[in-house]
Amino acid sequence: MEKEWQERENELRAALATAETQTALEEIRIRYFGRKGALPRLLASLSTLPPERRREAGRAIHSFQEWAEAAIEERRAALAPVLPQGPSLDMSLPGRPVAEGSIHPISRMSRRIVEVFRRLGFSLADGPEVETEFYNFDALNTPADHPARNEQDTFFLKDSRLLPATPSRQGGRLLLRSQTSPVQIRVMEKRRPPIRIVAPGRCYRRDEIDATHSIAFFQVEGLVVEEDLSIRDLKGTLELVFRELLGRDIRFRFRPHYFPFTEPSFEIDGFRPSRSKAGGEWLELCGCGMVHPKVLSGAGIDPDRYSGFAFGFGIERLLMIVEEIPDLRLFTENDVRFLRNQSSPV
Ligand code: DAH
Repeated sequence: MEKEWQERENELRAALATAETQTALEEIRIRYFGRKGALPRLLASLSTLPPERRREAGRAIHSFQEWAEAAIEERRAALAPVLPQGPSLDMSLPGRPVAEGSIHPISRMSRRIVEVFRRLGFSLADGPEVETEFYNFDALNTPADHPARNEQDTFFLKDSRLLPATPSRQGGRLLLRSQTSPVQIRVMEKRRPPIRIVAPGRCYRRDEIDATHSIAFFQVEGLVVEEDLSIRDLKGTLELVFRELLGRDIRFRFRPHYFPFTEPSFEIDGFRPSRSKAGGEWLELCGCGMVHPKVLSGAGIDPDRYSGFAFGFGIERLLMIVEEIPDLRLFTENDVRFLRNQSSPV
């Protein structure tokens, strides 16, 4: 018995030693472990033995099987891996298309707007979306009883430890900025005139969500502070920019309006005669005005020496006009069919 198993081992050992390829090795494995291989045959032969010898014979087969498996595996590891046959690279195959993403329409519009302002010497600025009541309202000359300060209109934060303390934060709660105008204050606090900045960014307001309202939207803020600025500069600058963005044939209307941080204040309406469908209508484009002297002096700029103009407008709104998009919600639903349609180059 012992001898018989010893012979089987020697036989397999010799076979393995001569197997030089994975294919040859596989043949040996099949010879032992295949359906008609040596081991299944040995196992089948168990039933021909008298019952009292089966147990011992079974154990012997099992230990040979374990040894054989390990010996084959060891040889497999020692041999070189199987390499694919033939050339691995077929240069004549067409390339696989790579799914390319695109710039989100709002980012694209924002970049376009900034690009136009850059040509006029504006630089980019920004500020935090979590603001203080001071920057969002007080420093912008907004009276304590102004409706926008109402908790029904603005998101106030419960936790006021989110921002590091600054001297100007005292007395102010934290909120999600309801406009990009606080960037004006942050810029004036840090820089001396001449100032020419644009600041695109997200704003938040409590609102019922529908086709034209959202609780989060983008604005572009602008601020210019220089000596001897007048309404002509404001008008010239904004007309040039909107003409660039909406087309040369646009007509403008400057409507007197009220903003706490500018005096006088206006809203600019635009009229596009050739493209508008229903015979044309006046579209609200932008709020603007001459920076209120109180806002300048509050930020440490002498209003007797410098004057400023400022403006702010919604990016989604402008995009909806330019690309005739009917519903604001399309911008956030992430429907690729919409995004793909919008994906012209930057
Ligand atoms: N912050 C205003 C708003 O959200 C827009 C605005 C109006 C900004 C006049 C300005 C401005 O800078 O001068 O409605």
